[in-house]
Amino acid sequence: MATAQTKAYEVIDHTYDVVVVGAGGAGLRATFGMAEKGLKTACVTKVFPTRSHTVAAQGGVSAALGNMGEDDWRYHMYDTVKGSDWLGDQDAIEYMVREAIPAIIELEHYGMPFSRTAEGKIYQRAFGGMTTGFGKGQAYRTCAAADRTGHAMLHTLYQQSLKHDAEFYIEYIALDLIIEDGECRGVMCWNLDDGTLHRFRAHLTVLATGGYGRAYFSCTSAHTCTGDGNAMVARAGLPMQDMEFVQFHPTGIYGAGCLITEGVRGEGGYLTNGEGERFMERYAPSAKDLASRDVVSRSMTIEIREGRGVGANKDHIHLHLEHLDANIIHSRLPGIAESARVFADVDVTREPIPVLPTVHYNMGGVPTNRHTEVVCPTAGDPNTVVPGLMAIGEAACVSVHGANRLGSNSLLDLVVFGRAAAIRAAEVIGEAGRSIRPFTNGSGDAAIARLDKVRHRKQEIRTADLRNEMQRAMQEDCSVFRTGEVLQAGVKRLAGVWAKRDGTGVDDKSMVWNSDLVETLELDNLMYQAVATMHGAVNRKESRGAHAREDFPDRDDVNWMKHTVIWVNEDGTSRIDYRPVCLTPMTNDVQSFPPKARVY
Ligand code: FUM
Repeated sequence: MATAQTKAYEVIDHTYDVVVVGAGGAGLRATFGMAEKGLKTACVTKVFPTRSHTVAAQGGVSAALGNMGEDDWRYHMYDTVKGSDWLGDQDAIEYMVREAIPAIIELEHYGMPFSRTAEGKIYQRAFGGMTTGFGKGQAYRTCAAADRTGHAMLHTLYQQSLKHDAEFYIEYIALDLIIEDGECRGVMCWNLDDGTLHRFRAHLTVLATGGYGRAYFSCTSAHTCTGDGNAMVARAGLPMQDMEFVQFHPTGIYGAGCLITEGVRGEGGYLTNGEGERFMERYAPSAKDLASRDVVSRSMTIEIREGRGVGANKDHIHLHLEHLDANIIHSRLPGIAESARVFADVDVTREPIPVLPTVHYNMGGVPTNRHTEVVCPTAGDPNTVVPGLMAIGEAACVSVHGANRLGSNSLLDLVVFGRAAAIRAAEVIGEAGRSIRPFTNGSGDAAIARLDKVRHRKQEIRTADLRNEMQRAMQEDCSVFRTGEVLQAGVKRLAGVWAKRDGTGVDDKSMVWNSDLVETLELDNLMYQAVATMHGAVNRKESRGAHAREDFPDRDDVNWMKHTVIWVNEDGTSRIDYRPVCLTPMTNDVQSFPPKARVY
């Protein structure tokens, strides 16, 4: 390494065909897929693979298997396009829903312990927005392993990874991408266990770093969900896409925020307000409690705002499942029964669970094509591929979820696009040949200099305090309902947060398991995404999917059926451009779904 400062660190070099950053569902599926194809593959992960946030997914993974009634991948495609409020790219959506069927069978063959029907088929439950006959009936499409589907999937994928020849670097934090001449050459990482730095050189770097729910005060995401990949992309001068679309899950436990699966409503659970009314019948007469999440979250918020909430402060809603057969709760929903007991002191067989919409998923992320290659619009080409860089899972915006994701399409996205990344990597590396250019003198120095700066600068504000300031601004000013005025206030508050960014420092200067330093770096990552979200939201003057502007209540397809791409600058300002939405399916097997008025 070149500079005196960076010489202070021990840097170990590695060379691989592919380095995957992140070991959740998408990262693991990509990792063993690459290894299976004979690519020399490393997987770098900041937590032990089976502790990745995928483990927390509850309700299931969608696929039109038709095990519990009629179904067709075209219905699934229609629902996903409609659920996305016509912001999803229809080529990628067709790819995902068609690949869903073999992907689930593959998981079954890998040994994933799905719940079963009496005939021994994979059990499928109803989920919001999933219909048959292009909106006519309720589909039973969500394949479930009780209410611990993510846990079952993650363990299955990790077992497969161990079967293949991939190398894992566990409890390594990715610091920054190494980009040279517009090409991603690898990534610089920090090994928490011994304090060494590791410079990975690879043909392809795959970001599978998950979402950034922790930019908000209340979310269902793990503390580790700090969107590290998105931030590395932003620091590399590349854009993020559609960051204004943040999904609130209707049923987070009141006060604690932890998830109560939509599977509860899929099994027959329902919501009531403070007057005991099943209010969803008013907002979505046909889908009712199984309307898509944006609709249910907004309806709950309106009930509370209009004084019909539950409890002394009328500030939450009740979710009932006490009418369900105890055997169903036992066999299909054991996990949420335990969560309700632990976090709300509720016995779900006797009383309702107090719930409130809680941040759950980021539709936005790193823009990619359907082969998972990162794209960056350039003059004349909105789809220019960034050589050497891929993104998958919640970190990516491929964009199959558009403005609002349907429940159980996320686990599907992970496995389908994790596999797609492996397929594309084999093609790209096959075309390029196996030899990799050496690093230039100083490759990765900028990443080390940044680490060094954060580690040694004077502390003027505690990381936890600045994080709290950012999270409160996001929660209050960029919520379920938005207005230009409130969002502008949020822009100002975040500018204030950004101004204090260089004042966070750490008391502990060590390099071994320095969690203070980790959290400070993670906060820095979150700030890029908070800014992108708030600025994207103030800029988009319409209501679409999860982005509900009270001052622009209608969807505006003429002016706004386009993806936002946003660059966050080093001074906390941003620049916005657009990419077109792909309305053309991948094949001629299905027709394009043109935008339709909303009916729920
Ligand atoms: O409600 C749930 O079980 C969550 C599923 C999802 O976000 O896909």
